Amino acid sequence: MATRRASQLITSLSSPSRFPIGRCLSAFSSPDLPREFTPKSWQSNPQCKCSINKAFSFQRHSFSSKIERNPSYSLLNSDDISYFKSVLEEKCVVQDEERLSVANTDWLRKYIGSSQLLLLPKNTDEVSKILSYCNSRLLAVVPQGGNTGLVGGSVPVYDEVVISLANMDKIISLDKVNGILTCEAGCVLENLNSFLENEGFIMPLDLGAKGSCQIGGNVSTNAGGLRFVRYGSLHGNVLGLEVVLANGTVLDMLGTLRKDNTGYDLKHLFIGSEGSLGIVTKVSILTPAKLPSVNVALLACGDYLSCQKLLVAAKRGLGEILSAFEFMDSHAINLALTHLEGVTNPLPQSESKFYVLIETTGSHEANDKAKLEAFLLHTLEEGVVLDGAIAQDISQASTFWRIREGISEASVKEGACYKYDLSLPVEKLYGIVEEMRLRLDGTAKVIGYGHLGDGNLHLNIMTPEYTDNILTKIEPFIYEWTSAQRGSISAEHGLGFMKADKIHYSKSAEAVKLMGSFKKMLDPKLILNPYKELAAPFFTDIIHALNISLHLLFIPYPAMPNIFS
Ligand code: FAD
Ligand code: MLT
Ligand code: ZN
Repeated sequence: MATRRASQLITSLSSPSRFPIGRCLSAFSSPDLPREFTPKSWQSNPQCKCSINKAFSFQRHSFSSKIERNPSYSLLNSDDISYFKSVLEEKCVVQDEERLSVANTDWLRKYIGSSQLLLLPKNTDEVSKILSYCNSRLLAVVPQGGNTGLVGGSVPVYDEVVISLANMDKIISLDKVNGILTCEAGCVLENLNSFLENEGFIMPLDLGAKGSCQIGGNVSTNAGGLRFVRYGSLHGNVLGLEVVLANGTVLDMLGTLRKDNTGYDLKHLFIGSEGSLGIVTKVSILTPAKLPSVNVALLACGDYLSCQKLLVAAKRGLGEILSAFEFMDSHAINLALTHLEGVTNPLPQSESKFYVLIETTGSHEANDKAKLEAFLLHTLEEGVVLDGAIAQDISQASTFWRIREGISEASVKEGACYKYDLSLPVEKLYGIVEEMRLRLDGTAKVIGYGHLGDGNLHLNIMTPEYTDNILTKIEPFIYEWTSAQRGSISAEHGLGFMKADKIHYSKSAEAVKLMGSFKKMLDPKLILNPYKELAAPFFTDIIHALNISLHLLFIPYPAMPNIFS
């Protein structure tokens, strides 16, 4: 069996067909297998009735009775609308119910807010005027990028004003010597990548939501994605930011230097702060050179230990050309094959428990090819890999990627999707998937996949609909398990509304208290993205600040440390 599979791989390896020089695979978009993500289906959402007293529909499954609209925030009135119309173009002050319904609903359709106003500023000055006004009027706001976030951070909980960056999508400059791109925050990631490709560069990050997510949203979530293993975190790649603070102050940190040790590097506070400290309006970012030789392989492994061995071997054997190392268990790949249109299994003979997608990107076609072939033959001979295929053309490569990137889309087609995004030591990472399967005992579908090269597991649990019964079997167990491994309950998606009261599983009380101090300093009236990230301490704070009685606002999560003590 092993020989047949090995020879199958050797056959495909010996074929001369490869990706054309000068194209970066990650930007290929074939008409039949588009890699772009277009949320057309959101265009109307009958569930949104836009009543300000209606909080997230999923609220009943998470915070339950613990959260109510904070009455200290003002209610929108006609004077407010008149003010916004005097500052923005009239068409950028949106009250149309259908458009509001899209802005009120998150990608998972799990969180549905009741905002009655969507603002679309066109420049930093307009963002500044909006925030300054909202701050003085105590109107809560939600910054919104492409609305592809997966933790309920990008949509209002109640009637917060949505500030979308979609109209701020200009590329400002590209320094072609140093590969530094400066642009507005509303630029869509895929558009930036396409622009760069024509200039001989690529974006240092890539994700399945690239066709909709914006660079400002990426920065604000500190998105990881598929190239992280090669190019690292946005904390390393973002060189500068322009941010508008809650009171309208424009903070110019839009440097373009690789090295600058003058004082505190404040931009890092905003990277990953999920719209809780300011609105990102401009970004400068380091962009790697686009390299001509890209190869993609899909490999099958018999057990999780082999996946780990493959990772170690890939880091050593492929070294500098390794650009992605993604894994999927058989449940995840089967889900994708079931729900994604026009996608077939590239390894039809194989019924392995695990699959790994490896991408290499390098500068020398022949050398890179030889390196990958030698690596794959070696891992086959060693029995680490049982079967595998290297994409022979763009279409095949797109199919491999489509399967991996399409898992999120396939998951939501099952009905309800409880989504977890954990950082764990690689050797322990799959343990939680197995434990969860045992725990749920066939009552839900459990899939494990993710960015194995970065120690980042995505664990999706799917049932026909959301129920408290399933949720109580999953949480807090999953967070306690992760915390016990000293892992993180959010590797890359953030806390949002979903995990607003869960930060203590991954951060010490002292660290959370310091975060609270930053929040108080930068947004003292707490108008930015309320009820999310650090929600409990912030509500406690607003009670102190605005003299409102505790029971009206929030019943703190029992294990939450009081950061203001
Ligand atoms: P939004 O969803 O609009 O907002 C996300 C958060 O950032 C919110 O809290 C919002 O208030 C805040 N925000 C947005 N813009 C700004 C701004 N300009 N200033 C201040 N705050 C702002 N994530 C990963 O990390 N890796 C992946 O591989 C990945 N793959 C995905 C695949 C799919 C199919 C989907 C649907 C999502 C995926 N995500 C992934 C999650 C999501 O795409 C990322 O978090 C992305 O960075 C969000 O960008 P956005 O523009 O859509 O932001
Ligand atoms: C991914 O890696 O596919 C994303 O983070 C999205 C997801 O997990 O759904
Ligand atoms: Zn991911």
